[in-house]
Amino acid sequence: MKRILNVVGARPNFMKIAPIHRAMVKFHSELEPILVHTGQHYDDRMSKLFFEDLRLPEPDIYLGVGSGSHAEQTAKIMLAFEKVVLDVRPDLVVVVGDVNSTVACSLVAAKLWVPVAHVEAGLRSFDRRMPEEINRLITDALSDYLFTTEKSGNENLMREGIPATKIYYVGNVMIDSLIFYLEQAKKSNILEALHLQPQQFALVTLHRPSNVDEPENFGKILDAFEEIQKDIPIVFPVHPRTEKNLNHFGLKERVAGIPNLRLIPPIGYLDFMQLMQNSKFVMTDSGGIQEETTYLQIPCLTIRENTERPVTIELGTNELVGTDTEKMVQCARRILEGRWKKGVVPELWDGHTAERIVKILRGE
Ligand code: UD1
Repeated sequence: MKRILNVVGARPNFMKIAPIHRAMVKFHSELEPILVHTGQHYDDRMSKLFFEDLRLPEPDIYLGVGSGSHAEQTAKIMLAFEKVVLDVRPDLVVVVGDVNSTVACSLVAAKLWVPVAHVEAGLRSFDRRMPEEINRLITDALSDYLFTTEKSGNENLMREGIPATKIYYVGNVMIDSLIFYLEQAKKSNILEALHLQPQQFALVTLHRPSNVDEPENFGKILDAFEEIQKDIPIVFPVHPRTEKNLNHFGLKERVAGIPNLRLIPPIGYLDFMQLMQNSKFVMTDSGGIQEETTYLQIPCLTIRENTERPVTIELGTNELVGTDTEKMVQCARRILEGRWKKGVVPELWDGHTAERIVKILRGE
């Protein structure tokens, strides 16, 4: 019997672990998956709602670490997770993505000689000012199984000296969830609730420190939204970090004065999928949404200078616009005029990635 700790912490982890956990449960005579939630995200709208939408079981172990500076949060997760590993004595720790919970738990496991599997390995923005880039580099250096979502991941890992025998190109577990829940998401009543017509709105998400912790950048992004909303209404579910900074920088009044820019609280997975698949286009600084829009073939403007997911630009519907107001406005116009690339779906983004991962972990 292989005892496995499946770790989640923050919002983008939940839809990645759900298909893996489900695939492991199928082999219950062989595998004992234990779900650990670090509590990095704790608001109902950032966590509980996702467990409900994804039909994830209640976490077996909840560490309740909460927010803090990077060092504080990472250290608190490590202290709590070390006790869990010593107590449970797992045969494997599975971490996903690039958040502080990912790196903290990998570091603990590696030092206790417990093998680590990193799902979504090898992605690189080559921008070390991004906290996630540091998390990715460390997690990959410590991992025993490196599961990649795109070919650039394999190339990056090989260049960093990771042996090829540890690297597995398996596809994208986030797309597993998207495919699995797409029909159910269509039953969401979010469009009616917000009085939106399919294809007649743009969707925004924004939470990167480089965008929302910097008043100048935040301002330039709002300038673009102000221009774009003259042509198409914009819906903007606001992340807690972003909400905090809108208040902190005194931008609330400005935003309230932009008539077709509609701010709403963070929403659950199914409602978000429904909004996304019905939007004309998406403007975002999220990692996962660049991939989801590529799969759905919906135009995506990424409000960043770089991306660790180049396949979404090379093959998909994504384009980088940075915080360049003029570029954002021009790109939005091109989309509205029907002049945008259609893109193709990358290899193995087919809904079966978690099964491939579990097959490899079972030594098949
Ligand atoms: C984290 C991840 C980021 C990911 C994002 C998705 C790291 C370094 N960052 O960023 O990679 O893209 O999650 O959402 O791991 N807060 C709440 N309620 C919550 C959680 C947070 O109000 O449930 C507020 C707190 O004020 C907190 C702030 O949001 O200080 C930031 O939270 P934190 O987890 O530190 O980083 P995120 O910006 O959410």
